[in-house]
Amino acid sequence: MRPSIQELCAWHLNRENAAVPLPSRLPEPYTLELVSDYEEPLFGELMQKVFFGVSGSLRWVDLGFEEDAALRRFRRDQLRTRPSLRIAARCDDALVGWCFGFADRPDSMYMASSAVLEGHRRVGLYTAMAEQMRDLAIEAGFHQLHSKHLCTNNAILIAKLQMGFQIVGMELSPDMGSLLKMELPLHALRADTLRARAGQTLLSKALSAQLTE
Ligand SMILES: CC(C)(COP(=O)(O)OP(=O)(O)OC[C@H]1O[C@@H](n2cnc3c(N)ncnc32)[C@H](O)[C@@H]1OP(=O)(O)O)[C@@H](O)C(=O)NCCC(=O)NCCS
Repeated sequence: MRPSIQELCAWHLNRENAAVPLPSRLPEPYTLELVSDYEEPLFGELMQKVFFGVSGSLRWVDLGFEEDAALRRFRRDQLRTRPSLRIAARCDDALVGWCFGFADRPDSMYMASSAVLEGHRRVGLYTAMAEQMRDLAIEAGFHQLHSKHLCTNNAILIAKLQMGFQIVGMELSPDMGSLLKMELPLHALRADTLRARAGQTLLSKALSAQLTE
C-alpha cells in the first residue's frame, strides 16, 4: 500500500526512505518515483549543468559574497521540515529528470526546480512529473501550485500553460533575472476567483460583495 499523503510530504526527512513508485503513462523504459533525496554528487552536478551556466541563476558565493557556513546550515535545516515533494524520472535506473516542490505557505506549494536531461526531452517526462506534483498537492489539500520562470524559457512556459497554469505576474530577481510568475489553482473556487479578479469573467455576487462592501 502507498504511504499516506502526509508521509509522502515528509518523505525527505528520512533519507533511508525507499523510493515510492508513482503512476504514469510514460513509455518504457521510463518510470516516475517519489524519492527522499536525489543521488549525490550526480544531482548537484546536473543542477550545476542545467541551471548555473552562463545565463542561468547566480550563486552569491561566485560573486565573492561570504557568509557564516554554520548559520546557513542552521537556516537550511530549519527549512527542511516544510512539506516537500521530490519526484524523479528514471530511464531504467538512471536519473533523467526531476521536479522538486515545497510548501512556502500552508496552502501553497512552490515548484522550485524541474528539468529533464537532453536526449530525454519531448517524451512527456516533465508533464508526467508536474501532473504527479499537481495530484499529490491536491491530495495534500494545497490551494495552489506556483512557480517562476525566465520570460524567454518557452519550453517550460508552454508546458505549464498546457497544464492550465495562469500567468499571475512578473518579477525582477537579482539572482535569476526577469521572471514570469505562474499559478495553477488547485480548486474550482480559486480558479474562478482568479479569472474574475483578472477581469476575464464577471464577479460572483459573493465575491463582489467581499470586494466592494
Ligand atoms: C522545460 C523542460 C523541463 C521540459 O521538459 P520535457 O520533458 O521535454 O517536456 P514535455 O515533454 O512534458 O513537454 C510538454 C509540452 O511542452 C511544450 N514544449 C516542451 N519543450 C518545448 C520546446 N523546447 N519548445 C516549445 N515547446 C516545448 C510542448 O508543447 C510539449 O508537448 P509536445 O512535445 O507534445 O509538443 C526541459 O526542456 C528542460 O529541462 N529544460 C531545461 C531546464 C528548465 O528550463 N527547467 C525549467 C525551469 S525551473
